[in-house]
Amino acid sequence: MDFPLFHLDWLNDRFLIAMIAIIHVFINHGLAVGFIPYITLLEQQGVVKSGRNEVTDLAWDATVHRMMMVGFVVTTTLGAMTGVGIWFSAALISPNSIGSLIRVFYWGWFTEWIVFVSEVVFIMIYFLTWKNSNKSLKAKQRHIRFGWFLSGFSWLTMAIIVAILGFMMDPGNWLTHHSFFNALTNPIYLPQLLFRTPTAMVIGGAFGLLLIMLFTKKDSLVRRPALKTTAIWILVWLPFSILASIYYYNVIPEAMTANMSTAVGTMDFAKYYNLLKYIILIATSSLAFLAVFILWKPKRVNFVMVLIPFILSLGFLGIFERVREFIRKPYVIGDYMYSNLIREEDYPLLQKEGILKHATYTGITEITDENRLEAGRDVFMIACSRCHTSQGINSIVYVFEKMYGFDKPLDINSMKAYIPNMHNGRTYMPPYPGNAEELDALAHYIFYLQLSGTSVQGAQSAGAKLNPEHSVEHFIELKTQE
Ligand code: HEC
Repeated sequence: MDFPLFHLDWLNDRFLIAMIAIIHVFINHGLAVGFIPYITLLEQQGVVKSGRNEVTDLAWDATVHRMMMVGFVVTTTLGAMTGVGIWFSAALISPNSIGSLIRVFYWGWFTEWIVFVSEVVFIMIYFLTWKNSNKSLKAKQRHIRFGWFLSGFSWLTMAIIVAILGFMMDPGNWLTHHSFFNALTNPIYLPQLLFRTPTAMVIGGAFGLLLIMLFTKKDSLVRRPALKTTAIWILVWLPFSILASIYYYNVIPEAMTANMSTAVGTMDFAKYYNLLKYIILIATSSLAFLAVFILWKPKRVNFVMVLIPFILSLGFLGIFERVREFIRKPYVIGDYMYSNLIREEDYPLLQKEGILKHATYTGITEITDENRLEAGRDVFMIACSRCHTSQGINSIVYVFEKMYGFDKPLDINSMKAYIPNMHNGRTYMPPYPGNAEELDALAHYIFYLQLSGTSVQGAQSAGAKLNPEHSVEHFIELKTQE
């Protein structure tokens, strides 16, 4: 309401954020948080394995260095870009919620930014000084210590961001006392951090297995011991990951009952939630099986055997992210701001006086026969467009046709009866925020969308009109009349 709204009609706005975010999580967890301590451990093993007069086992060290090169290239390019990309896309699509989060987590975010930039610089230092550090044992040991330090730093960036993710799911006490401390100690923070930490380690190890298979020959002296170390690494972290995922899994329903006002219509959630249970089981047991097999018959391991558990473990993390997104709905910040970017506390006012009156960007001050469609479009943009498109993915025409039948015109009165109650049956949707005239305009507009097949344009192509009643001229006029 306070910003001109960007909108992607074919893709769906939420999809854009989700795509960038999921790539980022895989890279962050798999190639930074979990990978760097794993690589440091391997680097250290090279020194331990080496002969009395050597700094390190050179063949081993060269392989580990190559593995780190993948981590280095991917984290500092795609990883860093998608990390920043999440905030760019989220700020574009969900400006109000990012605004609130920045206000609440100002110093957390500030710290995170410093830590993140330092992390990228430290990764560069770690990777680029690797070869030089092989000149003396002292330098190598310093390099390894730096690796451990970097591991702590990568974990720290994740630890700060998870506070914000937990807060969005369930702000906890912050809802009564708006303090940074209360926001930070939200109830989901710790379970989620406990889950992500060992899971990142496991995925880092699974990624390591893949790279070992790629970078070593079948009969090389490096492959077998490297596979074994990785298998042990995975077996050490896996029980923690399983226990933490069960703990997190059990905390989720509490957040959900807090967020979802009614118990009906949670079918879709149940679907993902059940899926989660099986994925935990399948992904973790396949990894455990693989690790044991590696220890038992390292010679028989092949690329496909490593690839499948790796993909499953990404699925494991991915489904958790999906569920995390799902349980937040209909809120973008639990019990505070709905996904349509309207605060819960503003609802009574808006439902009485209308959303357009209080919207900064609309050309409509009074709905008439002439401007009804334009008004309906603005209501759609404000109330529905963060989750629905007009003709693309999760199209508003399609969801209504699915209910009332395809191949026939939508009925305006049925839609008008449905929309004010939509949040009861489908608890992932926020209640309709506007008043009765706006509802009428919205239903006419959806009918028009079906009939004409036109797509709604976001502010990036359609431009935005400033509400005449919010203009400086209007305020001057009011003031001079006083
Ligand atoms: C928080 C995101 C969100 C918002 C905001 C939202 N919806 Fe939805 N809506 C959804 C999702 C998700 C579905 C489920 C789609 C599916 O089942 O594939 C849905 C489904 C629907 C359905 C079909 C319901 C059914 O029982 O099959 C209708 C109708 C609908 N939305 C109308 C609206 C209207 C009108 C608005 C704006 C006033 C709106 N929605 C706002 C997320 C949202």
